Amino acid sequence: MQKTDRIFSGMRPTGRLHIGNYLGALQNWVELQKEYECIYSAVDLHAITTIASSDDIEAIQPNIKDMVLDWLAAGVDPERSIIFVQSHVPEVTMLYTLLGMVTPLGWLMRVPTFKEKVRQMDATEESVNYGLVGYPVLQTADIILYKADTVPVGEDQLPHLELAREIVRRFNNKFGETFPEPKAKLTESPLILGLDGQQKMSKSLDNDIEIAATEEVTTSRIVTAFTDPQRVRRDIPGRPEVCNVYSLHKIFTPNQLKSIYSECTLAERGCVDCKKQLSNGVNQFFGEMRDRRDKYALKPKLVDEILSDGARRAGIIARETIGEVREKMGLSLL
Ligand code: TRP
Ligand code: SF4
Repeated sequence: MQKTDRIFSGMRPTGRLHIGNYLGALQNWVELQKEYECIYSAVDLHAITTIASSDDIEAIQPNIKDMVLDWLAAGVDPERSIIFVQSHVPEVTMLYTLLGMVTPLGWLMRVPTFKEKVRQMDATEESVNYGLVGYPVLQTADIILYKADTVPVGEDQLPHLELAREIVRRFNNKFGETFPEPKAKLTESPLILGLDGQQKMSKSLDNDIEIAATEEVTTSRIVTAFTDPQRVRRDIPGRPEVCNVYSLHKIFTPNQLKSIYSECTLAERGCVDCKKQLSNGVNQFFGEMRDRRDKYALKPKLVDEILSDGARRAGIIARETIGEVREKMGLSLL
């Protein structure tokens, strides 16, 4: 298939990714490489919009490395795609500033994720940093600096994409057709609950299973998973439809599902064994990726080279766009 459209997507460097990140985004990133020209960025500038402590700052570098190792392990391919660290292409900050000139403050104050962040941070709209208000403008700059037209994201990011489109329309109206309106490409994936069976899998809730976990850690994490709460004894039939272990079996042990279902509902299988079987499924699923990750982890120089080559290739596109924007906005050429 001919590669035509250009994809851009970014992830904040939160460190090692978990299976929810894999199924919800990363797997899709890998697939998209077959059909699109892809640019994937570890968005470190976005990470510092919510920086709270010096610990957070110290974590950024190791978190980038850990996250990028997971990308490479999963099959994001630096030969085919551009992989880079956002701040390594500083042109994005120039575009961010310029887009700020065509973005009404009201648009930003209405973004639901902004309101939510303010609440989470126990702050007020008056006290939060300007950088947090500008978060979606920076995200828009990310995307359109590379003139990407397609952005794979989860549902939570749709308001940001809508805003990006509005900023683009405004820019194009004022300064002439320059950027394509980026469209969201929703990542279809089942909701992956955490080991608590209650909330979405997330690192901060410590209910996750990391892609890069060892087999032993995977198993010991899954042992702690909540199952059907009514099944307090093994001789009580279980209800797979309310059991999160079962919902993970759907993904990781798909060809045994029928027997798992019937054995559970007939009280013929215990949760301990069921979890053991799930651990095996998860370990098998990620086995090859973990091996690949280990190989890259032994070559930190190679990973640095991949990222600097990515920044170099991204930089070429970025400088071209910035030149065009400077000219259109009446700034003298460099
Ligand atoms: N805001 C995104 C998130 O929190 C990360 C992000 C930053 C992004 N820039 C982007 C996603 C550009 C897609 C395109 O997940
Ligand atoms: Fe869940 Fe498996 Fe226990 Fe049934 S046997 S309740 S599917 S963990």
